[in-house]
Amino acid sequence: MARFRKIDLDTARVRRLLEPGPIVLVSSHWKGERNIMTMGWHTVMEFTPSLVGCIISSGNHSFGLIRRSKECVINVPTTKLTDTVVGIGNTTGGEVDKFAKFGLTAIEATEVKAPMIGECHANLECRLHDGRLIGKYNFFVWEVVKAHVAPRPKYPETLHYTGDGVFMVAGKIIDRHKGFRPGML
Ligand SMILES: Cc1cc2nc3c(=O)[nH]c(=O)nc-3n(C[C@H](O)[C@H](O)[C@H](O)COP(=O)(O)O)c2cc1C
Repeated sequence: MARFRKIDLDTARVRRLLEPGPIVLVSSHWKGERNIMTMGWHTVMEFTPSLVGCIISSGNHSFGLIRRSKECVINVPTTKLTDTVVGIGNTTGGEVDKFAKFGLTAIEATEVKAPMIGECHANLECRLHDGRLIGKYNFFVWEVVKAHVAPRPKYPETLHYTGDGVFMVAGKIIDRHKGFRPGML
């Protein structure tokens, strides 16, 4: 098999290789105020219970709402919302109501007070599972307590961030189901 010739990469830019996405929109609510931020830095941590970790910068307006409420909704947008994803990630909820500004529908969630975004492919209602790394790394560990997903398309066209304002789009499917041990599926 052919090998790749490599060049040095500035370690500050390895994010371009490791941020797999999909880009998500995190909605929040605290004492009558609601907000949305764009997020790429998240990771699956465990299946049962369903744990997801993520970084929410303390400079973001969302940080205060989310840390106080200990809740959020992780919404998964598709390419139809590309400009909205960019707009939400480049404005702050301290100044505008992003639901109104970007024409998004706030749907009441079942388990948390944070609203779900109707225009997204999926909405994951989350409760804080472990906040011990918030002070040190702004790292929140969430338990997904309720998940809503559109039945179609099965493989949505999600956005994956590569830095520098450039996204990759999920596309071609490769099915290697047969090569997996049952426990790995
Ligand atoms: C593609 C993209 C990915 C982002 N990923 C994150 C992230 O993972 N964590 C974070 O704290 N901010 C991230 N941001 C920045 C926030 O979305 C941005 O600061 C936003 O304005 C915060 O909104 P708020 O002040 O209303 O909370 C990202 C922005 C973009 C455009």
